[in-house]
Amino acid sequence: MTASIPIPTERIDPQRLALLETQLTALFEVSSVLSRSLNLRQTLREVLGVLHDRGRLSHGLVCLLDDERGELLISAIHGADAEPFEKVSYQPGEGVLGRILSTNEPWILPRIADEPRFLDRLSLYDAALPFIGVPIRFGDGGAIGVFAAQPPAGEELLAERSRFLEMVANLIGQAVRLARTVEAEQLALREERDKLRREVKGSHGFDSIIGRANSMRLVFDQVRQVAKWNTTVLIRGESGTGKELIANAIHYNSPRARAAFIKLNCAALPDNLLESELFGHEKGAFTGAVALRKGRFEQADGGTLFLDEIGEISPAFQAKLLRVLQEGEFERVGGGRTLKVDVRVIAATNRDLEAEVRAGEFREDLYYRLNVMPIRMPALRERIEDVPDLARFLVNKVARMQGRELAITDSALRVLMRYDWPGNVRELENCMERAAVMSEQGIIDRDVIQLTGIDVSASGVDSAPAPSASAAASAVDLHDPDLDERERVIAALEEAGWVQAKAARLLNMTPRQIAYRIQTLNIRMRQF
Ligand SMILES: Nc1ncnc2c1ncn2[C@@H]1O[C@H](COP(=O)(O)OP(=O)(O)OP(=O)(O)O)[C@@H](O)[C@H]1O
Ligand SMILES: [Mg+2]
Repeated sequence: MTASIPIPTERIDPQRLALLETQLTALFEVSSVLSRSLNLRQTLREVLGVLHDRGRLSHGLVCLLDDERGELLISAIHGADAEPFEKVSYQPGEGVLGRILSTNEPWILPRIADEPRFLDRLSLYDAALPFIGVPIRFGDGGAIGVFAAQPPAGEELLAERSRFLEMVANLIGQAVRLARTVEAEQLALREERDKLRREVKGSHGFDSIIGRANSMRLVFDQVRQVAKWNTTVLIRGESGTGKELIANAIHYNSPRARAAFIKLNCAALPDNLLESELFGHEKGAFTGAVALRKGRFEQADGGTLFLDEIGEISPAFQAKLLRVLQEGEFERVGGGRTLKVDVRVIAATNRDLEAEVRAGEFREDLYYRLNVMPIRMPALRERIEDVPDLARFLVNKVARMQGRELAITDSALRVLMRYDWPGNVRELENCMERAAVMSEQGIIDRDVIQLTGIDVSASGVDSAPAPSASAAASAVDLHDPDLDERERVIAALEEAGWVQAKAARLLNMTPRQIAYRIQTLNIRMRQF
């Protein structure tokens, strides 16, 4: 047995059925137009076109509330470019459109010419036709605009027409919301990007490279000069002297600053990996090459490539590198196509390349290619006068990282100046971080420094202090009112070579008085 649902065919009005079918087709097309693009003006104009062609709705118009001006502005008009009408605006409540916005309700006019509120500012409508305007809403919220159109003459089903317009207005509302969200996100991203750019430039600018010694001034001058050009730079210097920092500074102060800065540590990879890392590989070039991969040279196109520890590469690889540096050309591993790139190369090494050239371990031609503009980073012991500034800078860096206040005392700085820093600035940086960890109060004094394990006495400069170090020590004014008691006693002891009686004289104290203070202030005497 089959059940059938009786369809009351005789009650369906054919005129109404036809209208429903037309509207369904139009609605489908409208929704697909709206989902196609994020260019709001353009899609709205297309929607009005669809409604005109498929839905028999003429003189369609969309206007949206401008939040800043608090007025309705025309966003799209069927058949006309909205631009000439952009100057036309409506206050909420003003005219037919303004009233729809403020009441947040649809408005049906059987003949627009009969409505006294009709302003005809646009000289657009057919005065003899009906007119329907509906609010555009964000979800269930208030009206953010008005969508209006004119049904054909003699239309009897105006209420159905109005419901259809409301459906379209809902879709438009969603599209507007989406477009505005995307726009806001794009704006936020752009602002974020600009902020990051400024930060990157700030952290790679000269302000973040500390150095007043003449040898560092020379480095700054060289960086400033060479940054402007595409010249290959070879940065020399012991480990931890700031070679990478300088490479960054050159890139971010060069015309290529907005393009990529790509780094590669040549010592970290064996030859075959180095090759595919630098030049990339085609899909299937070797087992595991499941997809095409761009190498660092391609990634750096238009920007700078920093080849760290260049002294570590094998002779076979030196030949490959030479070709790119000479011709700017290379092939991906497993690929026949020759690629050309525009890359500025900065290389760095802590090796004695000249000796390696003499020993036949480093190709002479590559050496000359790289050594176009050499920059030599001085060891920290050659610029011991920079230690106090550097230590304060690095302590601030740690303080930011730890999110607390940190300070370093003068006596601590004087200890640091007595060490010869074989690991250079990196060692100083590590030392400051360790000291910060160990100082609960956030004050890094000489005792804390001694706890970090740097061995001042082993450095050899201790018994015969470097001239700059002793200059700094005697530069302390023992009567400086800002110096606290402990600092004052330590400074005097240092100046007196840790002879208590001599320090006591400097402070106008008796030997007993100074001994008492050394004990109560918990000063550890140095052993000789
Ligand atoms: N003049 C300086 N001012 C401030 N910080 C510095 C300075 N020089 C180096 N540093 C810091 O010291 C650390 C080591 O510097 P960098 O990595 O540039 O040295 P490097 O010469 O490349 O060392 P390596 O040869 O070991 O790679 C980094 O954290 C860097 O920020
Ligand atoms: Mg480095």
